Amino acid sequence: MPHLRVFPDRQNLVAGAAEFIAQCAAQAVAERGRFVVALSGGGTPRPIYARLASADFKDRVAWQATHVWFGDERCVPPDDARSNYRMARETLLDHVALPPAHVHRILGEIDPAQAALAYEQEVQRFFRAATLPCFDLILLGMGDNGHTASLFPGTAVLREQARWVAPQYVEVMATWRVTLTAPLINAARGVAFLVEGAAKADMLWNVLHGPYQPDVWPAQLIQPLNGEAHWLVDAAAAARVEPRVG
Ligand code: 6PG
Repeated sequence: MPHLRVFPDRQNLVAGAAEFIAQCAAQAVAERGRFVVALSGGGTPRPIYARLASADFKDRVAWQATHVWFGDERCVPPDDARSNYRMARETLLDHVALPPAHVHRILGEIDPAQAALAYEQEVQRFFRAATLPCFDLILLGMGDNGHTASLFPGTAVLREQARWVAPQYVEVMATWRVTLTAPLINAARGVAFLVEGAAKADMLWNVLHGPYQPDVWPAQLIQPLNGEAHWLVDAAAAARVEPRVG
């Protein structure tokens, strides 16, 4: 069973998720001397990243030993309002002592196929891994249509088993994306979904308890090889999976 942690409200989810990430970082640095994390995009993580950059947390994470990667990116320039990199930079990266060389950005401004290839080669160089590289933590969101990272329903990238990073045109968004693929995400030491809001309640039930149909609900593809995914959710999103009495 996946590790489900239900927080009473958004504020507690933000604090709990920041605490979870800080603890993952401390364990990774203690065990391996570095913390290699892939950030999620979207809106849910924004206050969580800001909390990590706050006085409560900024000195708790060994930023000098941390490497920040991205689970996916919109194919837009890094200063575009839609850029996941820009969101992370504004909320976190500009506010902590992270060496610039430790920020591994997906080049959203170039051709998607070239950006995916370049990122995959950067992953390979960094991990010096011939087999599947192992991130310490990959943060993910979940759309109300069941997508995660840029693994959208009905797209070819859902069936990608060889590539670690792939480009994908997302019809429903009329945009190109670059995304880590399910095999790479599933090779991580830790995977944590951050899900908030009543709008996600039905899909959270579908993904956790519905029939296994990952082409429809791609978040079901995330089955970590090294254990279970962590789901950090608020009570509103958990309304169907863990109904609160009263
Ligand atoms: C992105 C994200 C995407 C996001 C979900 C949930 O690039 O948008 O990677 O997978 O996590 O769409 O987004 P919200 O947190 O805004 O609901």
